[in-house]
Amino acid sequence: MIRPVLRMGDPRLLRRSRPVADFASAALRELLDDLFDTMHAQDGAGLAAPQIGVDLRLVVFGFEHNARYPQAEPIPLTVLINPSIEALGGEEEGGWEGCLSVPGLRGWVPRLRRIRYRGFDEAGRAFGREAEGFHARVVQHECDHLDGILYPMRMRDLSRFGFVDALFPEGGDAAGRQ
Ligand code: NI
Repeated sequence: MIRPVLRMGDPRLLRRSRPVADFASAALRELLDDLFDTMHAQDGAGLAAPQIGVDLRLVVFGFEHNARYPQAEPIPLTVLINPSIEALGGEEEGGWEGCLSVPGLRGWVPRLRRIRYRGFDEAGRAFGREAEGFHARVVQHECDHLDGILYPMRMRDLSRFGFVDALFPEGGDAAGRQ
């Protein structure tokens, strides 16, 4: 079921979410279905449970091809529960981000370029992956939602924050949403 996405200003987006304790439950299955339905309905690259008002440490992300990021490499469709992120190398890079909770806007956000992330899938199996570039960016953005952090709170240069059609009148790869 497609759920309404909370928008910046809603205090539920600022909470630190609780760990998932009950894996492989019907309620978890239904929540994951709703997250994927909602993400796909809006062409998102990812979505975190708090964005639909659910106070749990759970994110989904991934795409084969995303119309909003046509240059982006595919990211495996992923359920990531109770995640942790470790920096690899410590190097940062900037990139444009959007967010379904911050509709119509984009900002230039510094992120770790390479990370290792770990967590659990929907069956409670532990897994981990190394990621870099846009994949690493999406994971950091989504996991920030679990700590009540929206991408504008990570920005250092607010002159690179604006409405997508004003920033990119020609359209193009930066017209993305997460
Ligand atoms: Ni977001």
